[in-house]
Amino acid sequence: MTALDRAASIADLRRLARRRLPRSIFEFIDGGAGDERTLRDNADHLAALRLMPRVGVDVAARSAAVDIVGRRSALPLVLAPTGLAGLFWPGGEMAAARAAQAAGISFCLSTNSVASIEEVAAAVPGVDRWFQLYFLKDEALMDRMLARAAASGYRVLCLTLDLAVQGRRDRDIRNAFTVPLRPRLKTVLEVALRPAWLAGFLRAPVRFGNFEADAPQTGFSSMAQHVAKLCDASANWGTIARVAAKWHGPVVIKGVLAPDDARRAVDLGAAAVIVSNHGGRQLDHVPSAAAALPGVVEAVAGRAQVLLDGGVRRGTDVIKAKALGADACMIGRPFLWGLAAAGEPGVARTLSIFAEEIAIAQALLGRPDFAAIDRSVLSDL
Ligand code: FNR
Repeated sequence: MTALDRAASIADLRRLARRRLPRSIFEFIDGGAGDERTLRDNADHLAALRLMPRVGVDVAARSAAVDIVGRRSALPLVLAPTGLAGLFWPGGEMAAARAAQAAGISFCLSTNSVASIEEVAAAVPGVDRWFQLYFLKDEALMDRMLARAAASGYRVLCLTLDLAVQGRRDRDIRNAFTVPLRPRLKTVLEVALRPAWLAGFLRAPVRFGNFEADAPQTGFSSMAQHVAKLCDASANWGTIARVAAKWHGPVVIKGVLAPDDARRAVDLGAAAVIVSNHGGRQLDHVPSAAAALPGVVEAVAGRAQVLLDGGVRRGTDVIKAKALGADACMIGRPFLWGLAAAGEPGVARTLSIFAEEIAIAQALLGRPDFAAIDRSVLSDL
């Protein structure tokens, strides 16, 4: 039995990731903005909710399949867009996309991926692909990215709205985290302690694959510098409407917490609103995703789907999000920990842990049909 087989929970996968990654890279995944209050709240607020089981229900046949933005998904999960997956495992984006396909769920590629739009599409043509776009200062470059995503068969456009500038992430500042990694003595020592990661890193170059042809990156930049150089802090609802109109397919709007913003996103034609604070990585002290969810669900009033991300670590968290009105969840760190621990089988393990936890919870809660779960599954006790 391998360490991966013995990983019983998402927290166990996190421990395996920590053992394999150089410290500054592990902390880039793990960390959040400022005091990490919102980061902790995301998980804590979901964990604090209680569920009331109902017994005497036939739960022999159970399903967690749901429709997400017009497509049947085997689980109520989508792999969230995350930059630099290829830094955590060689070919990380492809590995995650393959695991998503095998589990019957969708994969969202980040603007800041290592593998390009085309590389992922060519390597994993069968996965339902979403492309996440940041608003770029260079509108022509943004148009080219959109055209490339459409030409490569990405079905859904995910516009992330909560990154006008990058949040101040204390751990990355302390670690002087840059792309590529700057060979400081501290980094060299960290990397020397992680030979398995280093061997993979030497096989696969790390760069921002979607920018390569348009804006070759030279030198070492922090993620904050990368964002400041490329992202358009002046983007407003007019920009959002203009960019959304360029996409011939469903558009989802990610990074919404305020009910009025959710309403605007739906007015603009969004197929789904993703309640998210970017995993606590942008502004600290904003509400947790779970706390913000009910207000958004009320504002959206069934006119679009609502997804939640941030702090989803257990199958019961997915059920709690559903109870609060989310149609499905995105997961970020949970799949990155699996990826960093063991590549594609690691992400497969993340997804099988969630699948089993959801199935067992549905059985023991007396809720065989995930899609029918509502507030009545929550307990005040
Ligand atoms: C992210 N996230 C993110 N979001 C986005 O829209 N574009 C991106 O490029 C990234 N990059 C990124 C990198 C890393 C390392 C992490 C951990 C997160 C945010 C991500 O999509 C999602 O909102 C959160 O990860 C959800 O919270 P959990 O599941 O990590 O708690």
